[in-house]
Amino acid sequence: MKRQGNKVGVIGTGFVGATTAYTLTLSGLVSDLVLVDKDKEKALGEAMDLNHGAAFYPSMNVMAGEYSDLKGSDVVIIAAGANQKPGETRMDLAHKNAAIFREIVPEVVRNAPDAVLLVVTNPVDVLTDVTMEVSGLPFGRVLGSGTVLDTSRLRHLISVHTHIDARNIHTYVLGEHGDSEVVAMSLTRLAGMDVHTFCEKCGRCDMDLGTALADQIESKVKNAAYEIIARKGATYYAVALAVRRIVEAILRDEKAILTVSGPVKGIFGMPNVCLSLPAVVGGEGIERFVPVDLAKDELEALCRSAEAIDKVIKSL
Ligand code: LAC
Repeated sequence: MKRQGNKVGVIGTGFVGATTAYTLTLSGLVSDLVLVDKDKEKALGEAMDLNHGAAFYPSMNVMAGEYSDLKGSDVVIIAAGANQKPGETRMDLAHKNAAIFREIVPEVVRNAPDAVLLVVTNPVDVLTDVTMEVSGLPFGRVLGSGTVLDTSRLRHLISVHTHIDARNIHTYVLGEHGDSEVVAMSLTRLAGMDVHTFCEKCGRCDMDLGTALADQIESKVKNAAYEIIARKGATYYAVALAVRRIVEAILRDEKAILTVSGPVKGIFGMPNVCLSLPAVVGGEGIERFVPVDLAKDELEALCRSAEAIDKVIKSL
């Protein structure tokens, strides 16, 4: 049964792909969801499991399929490939997953030439770059989940300290979704106030967010995935929710500002790599990046992050 509405494909039904599919069924955003995996039985099992919950979410089609079933997709999420094992960095996966992407991306573009491609597999910035290169799609039509997840982690940690809803904390993690990411505390605003002013006026505790505590929070954000992987083997809930948010901004043409990964084209004099800056996300993917004003140390760290990504891209 073909509904008039939003069609989304998910390539790769491992932890992240399957959880992303689950969040999308609950979202009410999607009329047709197609799950594709080289392990066809796995994809079919995930589709069956989701369909058996159909009485509990808005009406939609969920199916396991082939690349040819992606026809007409508005968004195709690529979550296929190896994930981090304990002790591995995201960049350690670059060569293996780049080879997988060189097989997947042409099939996606051939069958869903009008779709926005949303890369989730790590190292997401490097693979977003690979996807841009292989697909030949124009600026914006390929984006990566980038540091949308890391930004949410930062919002959560500031929320815990300030007792303010994380949705009312505006802040950004920039650069690589990985070890060189940059917590841009200078951009943080609560009720329009920077963290120092907020802390002065709040008076609840003697810990100013802009000093020692900021270092603790930055370390927790950067190491979050390692801490979770060491305990449960993988991360998938928060990244799936981050992907859902990005899909929502695309399908609703929201012009939302999200720290997705895309080609920064020399902004701040950085090499032309994919990394995360605040970006305006709408129906065609990234419309533009917002060149934010950063503190000197943050800008230097961002340039180092760009160099780290560029080094891995050049090694492929
Ligand atoms: C994480 C994975 C998705 O940061 O890279 O949890």
